[in-house]
Amino acid sequence: MALIVVDHPLARSLLTSLRDVSTPPPLFRLIAKRLALVLCIEATRTLPTSATEVDTPLATTSGTRLGPLVAVPILRAGLGMLEAVTELFPEVTVGYLGLERDHATFEPSMYYSKLPPLDGRSALLLDPMLATGGSAAAACSALDAAGVGHVTLLSVVAAPEGVARLAAAHPRVDIVTASVDEALNDHAYIVPGLGDFGDRLFGT
Ligand code: PRP
Ligand code: URA
Repeated sequence: MALIVVDHPLARSLLTSLRDVSTPPPLFRLIAKRLALVLCIEATRTLPTSATEVDTPLATTSGTRLGPLVAVPILRAGLGMLEAVTELFPEVTVGYLGLERDHATFEPSMYYSKLPPLDGRSALLLDPMLATGGSAAAACSALDAAGVGHVTLLSVVAAPEGVARLAAAHPRVDIVTASVDEALNDHAYIVPGLGDFGDRLFGT
């Protein structure tokens, strides 16, 4: 597993605004999308490419094509990262996984799954919060079962506990995140974190 912490001033500045408790949902949504763009650009650095030839108006030259790519947001919070990916890669196919953590056990249960053909493709799994790692691990199991080739998780904030759990359960998965925070609290929230991403994104 590769763990890539995006150490770019733009990413740090956007994350600071997301952490800020006074950032209202409309601004939170906008900043989340911008940070997802940065994460997505970093994630594509290691994805498979194919060599191609392209005709410019003047000559034929060698070029590079990315893909095919699949994006899979984990509902709800992953939706806040989807538009960034579809804008960067308009040809991306999109699947959805609905996962919700139990309030007492913090273990996820899957309430929705709609995946496009994955047969050996690279997937960008979108979930801004990697807390216990239960949701991401369950999502990776679902993608594996559907035949995915490679998974890169795009996360805004990760907890060390979540990174360790995902690495143990799915050692081939790569993680691209803006921060690995200190730890989880007793309610399995990331500290310092940014609170409940879904609630802040959707104003609930
Ligand atoms: C949150 C978050 C992640 C998950 C992370 O989702 O969006 O999907 O928790 O926690 P974990 O690493 O401990 O599994 P939540 O279950 O709150 O659902 P929501 O996105 O619908 O609010
Ligand atoms: N889900 C969130 O939205 N935030 C956390 O800190 C943990 C899980």
